[in-house]
Amino acid sequence: MAATKTYLTGIQTSGMPHLGNYYGAIQPALAAAESNDTLYFLADYHSLNSVKEPARLREDVRSVAATWLACGLDPERTVLYRQSGVPEVFELATVLASVTAKGLMNRAHAYKAARDRNEAAGSTELDAGINMGLFNYPILMAADILLMEADVVPVGRDQAQHIEYTADIARAFNHLYGDAYSFPVPEGAYPQGEGSVLPGVDGRKMSKSYDNHIPLFMAENRLKKLVRRIPTDSTPVEEPKDPGSSVPFQLLAYFADAERTDGVRKRLEAGGMGWGELKNELFETINDRFGPMRERYEQLVAPGSELDDILEAGAARARGRAAATMAKVRRAIGID
Ligand code: TRP
Repeated sequence: MAATKTYLTGIQTSGMPHLGNYYGAIQPALAAAESNDTLYFLADYHSLNSVKEPARLREDVRSVAATWLACGLDPERTVLYRQSGVPEVFELATVLASVTAKGLMNRAHAYKAARDRNEAAGSTELDAGINMGLFNYPILMAADILLMEADVVPVGRDQAQHIEYTADIARAFNHLYGDAYSFPVPEGAYPQGEGSVLPGVDGRKMSKSYDNHIPLFMAENRLKKLVRRIPTDSTPVEEPKDPGSSVPFQLLAYFADAERTDGVRKRLEAGGMGWGELKNELFETINDRFGPMRERYEQLVAPGSELDDILEAGAARARGRAAATMAKVRRAIGID
């Protein structure tokens, strides 16, 4: 039997995921959990670098955890936890900092981009407004991954450098201490191709940064309004339309089954179906699909729900694994 691989990923906690995240990240992660050892955690200490409002940080973490659970994540099968629930992460981050070249951190994309923004703004201090948390981010992320001895890290392409850094840091540690203990050197697993990107309401890739996204769980009446506001051209109802160039149709094709999609396609091409009717169809399809999950989400996110116990139980399991790794690391480095 092939050894099972450990999959680990960190979930950003910045607000509720949208439909693009569902298809791009949540669904593939749930599929990976069917047949692998999986650990998924909420990266709350990473968020602290940018979120300085305690109430918002707290809410975001609960909302994102509730979203993943409502989408079907099974916390018995997957270890789901908050990064902050596993303090060994911070201990390992200190150990890893001692084998990490500062020059490597200087070249990190996120840090360089922040300096470039300062330069573009004409600032003479290129590090203005940049906190050490941002600078150290790649080391903390390496600690998240190496602590759980992960083999595979499913992430977006924008995270490729972070995974390479993690592998570099693991190799630096292994080179020094490999006789006593070696971290598995992890690899990233990236989404295939560019083709399957969900469009946002303006036809560009769905993204919070374009503000063209449809949140996964919004109240039914707000969802309806949002769908109704998707821009369409002024082709009259009776005229034939090109489904391929219509954003509501492209979205419908994601959520409806083949039969329903084909039926709508034919009616648009033949003429006689207006954009308003198409949008009603889209709203109903999204609502049917995500309505039951939304109910579950509402229960989980309510104060006093079982959510906190689930996260605590996940953290306890994660700490068990973390303690085992740290015992080996401490022995290897001579702090035991
Ligand atoms: N940096 C990741 C992102 O922005 C989130 C993250 C933090 C992460 N720690 C991680 C992802 C560890 C994978 C593994 O999406």
